[in-house]
Amino acid sequence: MKPSHFYKTFFVLPIVVLFMYSCNSSSNGYAVADTTEHLWRGWNMYQIPESDSMARYGYQLISKTSYYLGPNGKIAHISNGMNCQNCHLSGGTVPWGNNYGAVYATYPKFRARSGGLETIPKRVNDCLQRSLNGEPIDSNSKEMKAVIAYMKWLGDGIKKAPKGSGIMDIPYLDRAADPQQGKIVFANKCQRCHGEDGQGKKKDDGLYEYPPLWGEHSYNTAAGLYRISRFAGYVKNNMPFGEVEYHNPQLTNEEAWDVAAFVNSQPRPSKIFKEDWPDISKKPVDHPFGPFADGFTEEQHKYGPFKPISDARKNKQGK
Ligand code: HEC
Ligand code: HEC
Repeated sequence: MKPSHFYKTFFVLPIVVLFMYSCNSSSNGYAVADTTEHLWRGWNMYQIPESDSMARYGYQLISKTSYYLGPNGKIAHISNGMNCQNCHLSGGTVPWGNNYGAVYATYPKFRARSGGLETIPKRVNDCLQRSLNGEPIDSNSKEMKAVIAYMKWLGDGIKKAPKGSGIMDIPYLDRAADPQQGKIVFANKCQRCHGEDGQGKKKDDGLYEYPPLWGEHSYNTAAGLYRISRFAGYVKNNMPFGEVEYHNPQLTNEEAWDVAAFVNSQPRPSKIFKEDWPDISKKPVDHPFGPFADGFTEEQHKYGPFKPISDARKNKQGK
């Protein structure tokens, strides 16, 4: 056993045991994910060997992106003040917390959005330009190399995408998601941290304590979270922050879809990448911008109901 593996096992084992106990006690009456299956959870930053200074720097960039690359960033001023970690929780290590477990093993990979093979730098720059409404960084920069080093360290020993990586697909509703209902969910369960106006809250040092959910400092309309299935799956398993994980959610599926519809009906930066979706038939059912290969409206592609859209696709493929 490599010494680094020994320490990982040593630290992780008690956590796994604790976790197994906590799973059994989760019975809040909501449908929850199957908690008996093994889901990947990443090592924590304290386990990055001191000698791996690039991976350590990569972790800093992901957890404190704004400090380095934000509006007053130390290295460059190229992003909106959010951190990668706002959406890839705890450095991208949390099951169903939009984690990075699959990244090192699965890239370069084909993605329908670009219609080509994407490398890790390309995918990181995607999030910089969309989720952080910013500018890409050079593939050969120290910063990009550090992010890759971190992904490599995190993905050590992983051969294929582990269960629990990325964002969970939660079941479709039979109806369209409802921004009015979502507004009530927001007021009851989100506003105390993200603010009545959704603009989040900054600390004295100017960095966010609670990131914004809409407005000029939020993710733009080309970002993954602007698709309501991504938003709903993310918040269902992770919000309110610090109180839930996938095995003990507070939101019902309906609340998750409705609050997603509400937040994504608020104003935010608009950005169009003309090169996206060269094959329009590959657009996800909830991609909210036409043209589409089917006859459904932009409204239905934004809010649902999604089942008729996905059924129509299946029928077409069956023929
Ligand atoms: C506003 C939220 C948000 C922020 C901030 C954000 N991302 Fe993402 N990121 C996403 C979403 C959504 C996805 C797609 C997840 C899915 O569809 O399963 C994603 C996917 C990724 C992936 C691909 C994961 C995979 O397994 O294919 C990488 C790599 C990534 N992000 C890196 C970054 C980096 C690095 C930063 C900071 C520079 C960042 N992201 C900031 C929301 C965000
Ligand atoms: C207890 C405070 C708290 C509550 C309540 C809360 N959040 Fe969050 N939320 C956070 C924090 C803190 C982060 C960033 C986490 C990090 O960086 O580690 C976050 C991140 C997010 C993100 C990704 C980043 C962004 O700004 O786009 C979304 C989306 C989100 N929350 C939505 C919600 C929704 C919807 C609710 C209500 C169902 C909610 N949150 C309730 C504290 C909270």
